[in-house]
Amino acid sequence: MSAQGSRFGDAWDRYVESFGTKKASFSERAGRLIEVPGDEWGEPDGWQRRVAVLFRQRLNAGAPILALEIGPGSGKYTRLFLEAFPESRIIACDVSARFLEILKTGNAEAIQSKRLLPELLEPLQDCLERAAAKHDAVGNVDCIFSIDSMVHVGLQYLVAYWQSALHILKPNGLLVMGVADATTPEGYQKLMRDVPSYFSKQGAGAFGQFEWMSAELAVKVLEKMGFVVELVPEASTRDCYFVATKGRTSKAGRQSEGVLP
Ligand SMILES: C[S@@+](CC[C@H](N)C(=O)[O-])C[C@H]1O[C@@H](n2cnc3c(N)ncnc32)[C@H](O)[C@@H]1O
Repeated sequence: MSAQGSRFGDAWDRYVESFGTKKASFSERAGRLIEVPGDEWGEPDGWQRRVAVLFRQRLNAGAPILALEIGPGSGKYTRLFLEAFPESRIIACDVSARFLEILKTGNAEAIQSKRLLPELLEPLQDCLERAAAKHDAVGNVDCIFSIDSMVHVGLQYLVAYWQSALHILKPNGLLVMGVADATTPEGYQKLMRDVPSYFSKQGAGAFGQFEWMSAELAVKVLEKMGFVVELVPEASTRDCYFVATKGRTSKAGRQSEGVLP
């Protein structure tokens, strides 16, 4: 059982359950209506920009892309992806049952048409493969992505997802992800700013804390695992976003037709 385990999902469930009491203050702070959890993170034009730099330039808009998203939350990036790629389907995997409920409620049509396939992750290291296997998708996925979610997942756990990605992706398939980077100016500022909030919670699994790493660390580990890695600094000034391509020379499976050459 992964130490991340279901307890981690419970903490995100509690965030969703307490959201109602925070909605008004989130809306006031943002200067726009915050309706569902997730609306409070970032701004709509920034969400669009990320989808453009991470996906539109790399994936074939007309292809029947099969994607797997990790940590969709309420699904704001899920929706933008489905809009950008009209022939795509997404297996949307989250540890939080409550977040998945909101995702399902807000995307009933996509679920009905089988373009959106929500999956609750089990606390097992191969949980992504298990979720993919339910849809006969192991070895058939063009793109695995995770935006604004893996900043909270330590490398010890995250690496299990990277291992799974090598099984789930087609050769040439893409792993697109943002991780916490303490070496960017904004990352460094946040690291310092968060010390008073988190120091006394050591060992208690403090909810919301970042699991810090750096672009250099992420790239070196991914390359050792056999990915070809490109950094995408346009996606964030704080976090490290990367596109890691599963080795093009792998003989297993079909080449991805969804990925632009
Ligand atoms: C900060 S929210 C971001 C949600 C969404 N991507 C967005 O930008 O609005 C983090 C999401 O990741 C999920 N999550 C946290 N840890 C996870 C893990 N280890 N595996 C999968 N999902 C995880 C949470 O339940 C939550 O839905």
